[in-house]
Amino acid sequence: MDQTGALDALLQEERVFRPLPQLVIEANINPHQLEQAQRRAEQDPLAYWEDAAHELDWFKKWDRVLDDSNPPFYRWFPGARCNIVYNALDRHIETANKNKLALIWEGEPGDQRKYTYYELYREVNRFANALRTLGVAKGDRVVLYMPILPETAIAMLAVAKLGAIHSMVYGGFSAKVLRERVADAQAKVVITADGFYRNGRIINLKALVDEALAGAGAECVETCVVVHRVNVDTEMHEPRDLWYDDLVRQERPVCATEVMEATDPLFLLYSSGATGKPKGIVHAHGGYMVGIARTLDWVFDIKPTDIFWCTADAGWITGHSYVIYGPLVAGTTTVMYEGHPLYPQADRLWDVVARFGVTILYTSPTLVRMLMRFGVQYPRKKDLSTLRLLGSVGEPMNPEAWVWLYKYIGRSECPIMDTWWQTETGMFMISPLPISLLKPGSVNKPLPGIEADVVDAHGNPVPPGKGGFLVLKRPWPAMMTTIYKDPERYKKSYWEKIPGVYYAGDVARRDEDGYYWIQGRADDVMNIAGHRIGTAEVESALVAHRCVAEAAVIGIPDKIKGEVAKAFLVLHDGWQKEFETAEDLVAALRAHVRRELGPVAVVKSIEFRESLPHTRSGKIMRRILRAEELGQDAGDTSALEDPD
Ligand code: WTA
Repeated sequence: MDQTGALDALLQEERVFRPLPQLVIEANINPHQLEQAQRRAEQDPLAYWEDAAHELDWFKKWDRVLDDSNPPFYRWFPGARCNIVYNALDRHIETANKNKLALIWEGEPGDQRKYTYYELYREVNRFANALRTLGVAKGDRVVLYMPILPETAIAMLAVAKLGAIHSMVYGGFSAKVLRERVADAQAKVVITADGFYRNGRIINLKALVDEALAGAGAECVETCVVVHRVNVDTEMHEPRDLWYDDLVRQERPVCATEVMEATDPLFLLYSSGATGKPKGIVHAHGGYMVGIARTLDWVFDIKPTDIFWCTADAGWITGHSYVIYGPLVAGTTTVMYEGHPLYPQADRLWDVVARFGVTILYTSPTLVRMLMRFGVQYPRKKDLSTLRLLGSVGEPMNPEAWVWLYKYIGRSECPIMDTWWQTETGMFMISPLPISLLKPGSVNKPLPGIEADVVDAHGNPVPPGKGGFLVLKRPWPAMMTTIYKDPERYKKSYWEKIPGVYYAGDVARRDEDGYYWIQGRADDVMNIAGHRIGTAEVESALVAHRCVAEAAVIGIPDKIKGEVAKAFLVLHDGWQKEFETAEDLVAALRAHVRRELGPVAVVKSIEFRESLPHTRSGKIMRRILRAEELGQDAGDTSALEDPD
């Protein structure tokens, strides 16, 4: 179950890092307040979350904090009316935040755009009006297939302002994946860009959209809005395609914010599961905004002078919760960077930090490991003294990377918030606070109001130091409300694996001090550079190739990306007629997967086999292949047998 190969290091990790006294004094939540909050949350978790909800603006307050009459379909703040965009934008226009920078954006070539809260508010209103003219109304689905642009944030907020539901599809997914998601969501509008800059090249995004929308299933799309970003010839299909600039030019910068039920959906975000079909994770306005506002404020200790930079792409949950919604609800300044972190060289990140005076940097272990490889001369050349907090998410952070980040980027002064959470949880669940004692590689302890546990397949807690399944034992406000159009699957995949608790799909361990250590996924989901990719998705892409009879894909440890995909294939006879050598076939298969799934799903190595191991019922036993690959005894995984 050790996905990163760093388990030995984790097991031996005994270092503890204390926060500097000054930091404890200045923290929004001091140790005494934390203790009080924990006590309150233990005695009355709903009262704890109700306090958090009172810090936000509502059109009408709730009848109850939580309706748990039909588990696991928990309804947070039923009876309340709100709109997250009111909290992210509208209310700031009435305060000193009005003229504060909301968004700093930098393009890969070095161009910049900055928006105050007032300017962002106006842009969102104009685009919301344009969308309304296109017929977008409450409950409609709008798919965003966007790179990192200011318009990405503007589009999300504009859609939500109208009460419509956005569904972002990460730009690293293929046209085919985009089409499937557009079809599943039955989207009326797709918003995209002509292209974007990545590692010095122009990626032509609109061409992929054209391919996606030409296929069966995408007939639901009436309009495609295209943001102009790069100078490329872009085919516009009339009357479907419209330029963003043409649309907003005449629109007024005032637009009413739709009054939503707290339980109304805000967005869908598709995420990989153990089967080939991605799940449309649904989040609702009320609970989601309470959850992300409270967790961002406490974990990242937001101050009026902060410049907050989360390096995640807006297409993942981290981008939704902590690049866009969370920081804007908090009234802080959020940074977005379009391009590759190593472009034009390995100091780009540090350069951005220095130029904007970033105070909080929230990033991923893969990026840290990548930058570590280039050595300390790059960060040393830049002034990183504005940084006061660091953060990590998406995959287990090995202690070596943790200590490097702490020492060379954080000057041994900035605590690292290693936050554990998921698309499904919407918000941080297990994480330190700036005042916590830190152990490198551990995600610390559950936040107040969160009850987690490490259990065996029957739900019995396992003793300290032993691996088990990570579960959550109580609903939390930013939790997903369901899987889009598939409530049964929501019930089955999260709440029935181990009855009565939320099954996260991760393997974890808790030490004697109650600190959690995440070891990796328990299911057939890979975590490649912090991106969730189902083995089944890659397998079905591979068997769609005419030469492949059967495919099994597993994740294997990788020094930089944490995990990479390896495929075992049984070929159809006659592939030699098409390809001269096995290398040619491998290259063709790699290109094929890229076309089917997109550049996000890289298959690192491919091995041909005469046959694959099967269970009696015919299921491929990936676990045997994994044990073989890692030189382990295939029998010794029984302690962590999937509860299925
Ligand atoms: C993994 C990303 C170790 C975990 C927010 C989880 C982590 C999956 C951490 C969710 C962390 C997330 N340490 N592993 N701090 N944070 N994970 O849905 O396996 O893209 O189940 O959400 O990432 O990935 P997702």
